[in-house]
This record gives sequence, C-alpha cells and structure tokens, in this order.
Amino acid sequence: MDRKEFIGALGLGASAMFTSGCQTTSSAAALPDFKSVSEYAYWSAVRQQFPLGNDRVYLNCGGLGPAPSVVLDAVNEKTEELQAISETGHATMDEVRVVAAEYLGADANEICFTRNATESNSIIATGLRLNPGDEVIFESHAHPGGSFPWLNRQERHGIKVKVFDPDPESMEGSVERIRKLITPRTKVIQVSHITAPTGILFDIQGIRKLAQERGIWFHVDGAQTAGMIPIDLHSMDCDSYATSGHKWMGGPRGTGILYIKRSQLEEVECSHLGGHSITHYTFPDQVTYVDGVKRHEYGTRNTELVAGLQVAIEFQKEIGLKRIEAYGSKLANYLQAGLSEIPSIEILTPSDPAMRRSITTFSCSKIPYNTLTSRLMQEYRLRCRQVTEQGLNAVRVSTHIFNSKADCDRVIEAVSEIVRTA
Ligand SMILES: Cc1ncc(COP(=O)(O)O)c(C=O)c1O
Repeated sequence: MDRKEFIGALGLGASAMFTSGCQTTSSAAALPDFKSVSEYAYWSAVRQQFPLGNDRVYLNCGGLGPAPSVVLDAVNEKTEELQAISETGHATMDEVRVVAAEYLGADANEICFTRNATESNSIIATGLRLNPGDEVIFESHAHPGGSFPWLNRQERHGIKVKVFDPDPESMEGSVERIRKLITPRTKVIQVSHITAPTGILFDIQGIRKLAQERGIWFHVDGAQTAGMIPIDLHSMDCDSYATSGHKWMGGPRGTGILYIKRSQLEEVECSHLGGHSITHYTFPDQVTYVDGVKRHEYGTRNTELVAGLQVAIEFQKEIGLKRIEAYGSKLANYLQAGLSEIPSIEILTPSDPAMRRSITTFSCSKIPYNTLTSRLMQEYRLRCRQVTEQGLNAVRVSTHIFNSKADCDRVIEAVSEIVRTA
C-alpha cells in the first residue's frame, strides 16, 4: 500500500480487535414488576437505585441529573476493562450508537456522541453554510448552550439572530410569533423542545411545517426532553436534534447526543476533523468523510462514558418512557396545584397540560428569586434552581423518577412557610 494512502478506519480495526468481546454491562436494575406492587413501592424502588444522599431533596434534574448506581458501575467496569489493556474501546461506541438511535427513534448513522448538548448545538451552528445577513430565529428563553453558539456565529460571520418570546398561553401563539419573524433571509429556526427557564413545550410539528414549507433548517434543542418524555426523531422530522445525556436520561456527566436527519448529513460541515471522521484519505490532497453523523466524532473518545449512557438508556427502557413522562408530569401537576394555593405565588409554567411536562417554575411577588432559592436550600434542604433568564425572577423545580409526592409536599410547605413569615 502506498504509504501516503490509507484505506480503512485509521487503526480502528486494530482497536476493535483488542476489545472484541467486551460487551457493555447490562443495566440489571433490581426493579419490581410495576403491576405487582403499589405505585408507591415501585417508585421507592426506583429511588433506591440512585446513590443520591437523603440529607437534601434534589429537584434540579433540568440542570444536572443524577445517574443510577448501575450507570456508575458500568462506567467503572468499562474503565477498568479498558485500562487493563490500555485500549480506547471505540468499537463500543458503534454498539451503543445502535441502542441510542433506537431509543430516540432514529437510525444509527444519524447519531453521534458528544460531550453535552452545547457541543451538539454548536456542531449545527458552526457547520451550516450561512452567509452574512442570513437570519436565525430562536426563542428568547433559549439556554446559553443553545443561544451562544449562534451569537458566536453572529460575531464571527455576520449572521443575524432574531428572537421571539415564547407564548405561555398557547402553542399556536409561539408558531405565529416565529412566522412573523420569517423573511426570505431566514435560514434556520431553532427551538428548545421544552424550554429550560419555565418548561414550555413547543408545537414541534407546527414549527417544523413552517420551516419545511420554506426550506428553512429546523433544529431542536432537546436538552430538556430526552429522558423526560419519549422521543421519536423520525416522526418529529426535524433536521437536527441535540441533547444531553447527563440530565433527564441519567447518563454519566459529559455525555451528549447529536442527530442529523439522514438526507441532511452533507449540509453540516465538520467544524473539527480527525481520526474517526473519515474512511479514506490521500495525503495531502483529499479526505472521504464517514458516511454518517459519526464523522463529527473526531479523535480519541471516552468510551467508558458512552458505555454508561447505554446502561442509562436500558434503565429508562426498563421503567418505560411513557411511564416516566406520566410520573414526572403527575408530580408537576400536584406541585403546581399546591403552589398555586399560596398567596403571592405565580406559576410561570403554562397552565395548559399539553404545553408542559416535568418542569414547574414559579415566582413570588413578595420575595426575590435568590432569597427564595437560597432559603429553600439552606433552611429546608430543597435543591431547586433559580431562574434569572429574561428577568423572570423565579424558581424552577424539576420532578423526575427519583422524586416523590412527599418531595412536592416539602416544597409546598416550605414555600408556604417562607411566604407566610416574609
Ligand atoms: C435547553 C438547553 N440547552 C442546552 C443546555 C446545555 O446543556 P449541556 O450542559 O449538556 O451542554 C441546557 C442545560 O440546561 C438546556 O436546558
């Protein structure tokens, strides 16, 4: 073989050879059959799978989700296994890719692993071919991990960012606000699937239609949905979707996923390229990219974390995504009903159940967000998240599978007490 020409997968074959037969650990969580125990007993068993301490109540899954012990064990086992032979174990990434794709309703070659949702969003914001003056629309409530990649592009390449305020009253209202911002220069519409500050669920199908009819790229930032609700990317039919593994999915810290629709792969240029991005090159003339979103997985990766993400997915599947969605929403409904009885409390999360799931954000006309959040934490051991975005002056509570009705009662009682004595 010509020394300058390399056909194959940049030594991937050798790496795979050394680690062949190394299967990722199966989740094997000790969960009872849902139908054979009470609902309380079932969710208590789920809670016990998490090494979360009992000295505080964790209600910030929207910021960072805890991983169940089986996930942490899988990461440790994979680390020891790979360190014992000092290999990357990259072949595992392809095995997990199949599992992650199935979990998200996509094909394996439409998925790549990243370090977080921000990186996934950035690959799209950096990789789409845009000219100065081209316009990108997203919501004013976008998380910095969704908005900053575009602001960076605006700074560097003169694109124009336009924002709309999400309508908390109606899904159609937000679609209409986007429609009003569209011009012939609009090239991208991005929304958070569920917004981080107040938990607004957008009409993804309505926005997709708006974009598709006009040939506009539609990117969904799903950091707040994968692991909270079932995701079927093929039915969602967006051009790209980004998410974190370390929030609602319960994966290890430093895991993320990017999806790009099969037919749109070539529209996103690689902002980073290296080993694992190409199938073939003739040095220094030409490279042939991997025929899949995996091309964005350049360089050496932490396979151990991806192996842990597989177990997180298996753990969630064992419970069932519909059941997870229903449980988190039920807790949120209960919490909202209780909080709305308290004088001076306003629920900022939409009242329409179709427009929300497992996030509850509220403000208090008597107490600023920072005092309220810190008193909840320091005096009542309730770890919520303050919401400062867009001057919202609020507190966010995330309710996931390790939370309980008793946790919600504690929040309601604590807020009542703080308000009463303010
Ligand atoms: C909608 C949204 N996008 C992006 C991010 C950033 O996520 P990560 O820390 O995984 O980059 C968050 C985090 O809260 C988020 O809510």
